[in-house]
Amino acid sequence: MSRARTVTQQWVWVPKASSIAREAGARLREFFHQGVETEYKGDVDLVTVADRTSEKLIRERLGEAFPEHGIFGEEGTRERLGAEFRWYVDPLDGTTNFTHGFPQFCVSLGLEQRPAGLAPDQDGTMVAAVIYDPLRDELYAAERGRGARLNGKPLRVSRTPELAEALVGTGFPSSKRHDNPNVHFYQEFTLRSHGVRRAGSAALDLAFVAAGRLDAFWEFKLNPWDTAAGVLLVQEAGGQVTGFSGNTFRLDSREVLASNGLIHGELMALFDDMFAGRNLAPILTPQEFAARRAAREAKAG
Ligand code: IPD
Ligand code: CA
Ligand code: CA
Repeated sequence: MSRARTVTQQWVWVPKASSIAREAGARLREFFHQGVETEYKGDVDLVTVADRTSEKLIRERLGEAFPEHGIFGEEGTRERLGAEFRWYVDPLDGTTNFTHGFPQFCVSLGLEQRPAGLAPDQDGTMVAAVIYDPLRDELYAAERGRGARLNGKPLRVSRTPELAEALVGTGFPSSKRHDNPNVHFYQEFTLRSHGVRRAGSAALDLAFVAAGRLDAFWEFKLNPWDTAAGVLLVQEAGGQVTGFSGNTFRLDSREVLASNGLIHGELMALFDDMFAGRNLAPILTPQEFAARRAAREAKAG
């Protein structure tokens, strides 16, 4: 029997959550191909019949599979929030992409375990995560202490050793965009890395960090349904997740900094310098950069 099979059999919540995410994703795929009307929750905060249909389906299926679990969904589901287990549901992460026909979106389901007596504003422990990308038919899954997988294969974050050689991701919120300082960080990270991707689905961005497709991801104003599953995926794939200054990540803290771990210190130092308005370390010239890389490669043998 293969190792992958052994690990999958130990999973407690992932098998049922995966089939729910696949079913919701299949509905999203149909809506995506047929086209849906765009409705507005805010100036650029969009919602569609696909978001609502997916959440309704997930709510029903989770209720059947785990009748004692709570559910906290982006489109309004609030059920059994006093329960020991709580699902954070983003029924369609990447709605703006979806409405424009840009093929990057997913379903995200994250399970938190909340011990009895935990204050409402305290985090429990994220114990399971499923993110399904229906267009690529890619299913990311993790359970705490049991590793992370993509379509059944073990996931590992990248080994990129420094920001200068990293591909990183970010996003911008769909409300109060004029208050958001991220464009300054976007510029600085662009100049100091191989590039910054703004692909439009925070949950998939985090899954891409877990899969080593991105070396890091940050964003300023996220919600628990965006991050709950992706954060556990990154951690279980060997990466690191904190706030911008290394503070413990919390589901309601809104900011997230996720990386392969190797470049985390460098990213935090850059955030610190920028928040403090300090002079930033100069950006290396192409010659300086080539010399530093050659020295590192020589040292590594
Ligand atoms: C959005 C996406 C986007 C991120 C926004 C989120 P939604 O979620 O994750 O990438 O930049 O902050 O609100 O609205 O498509 O579920
Ligand atoms: Ca979202
Ligand atoms: Ca959403």
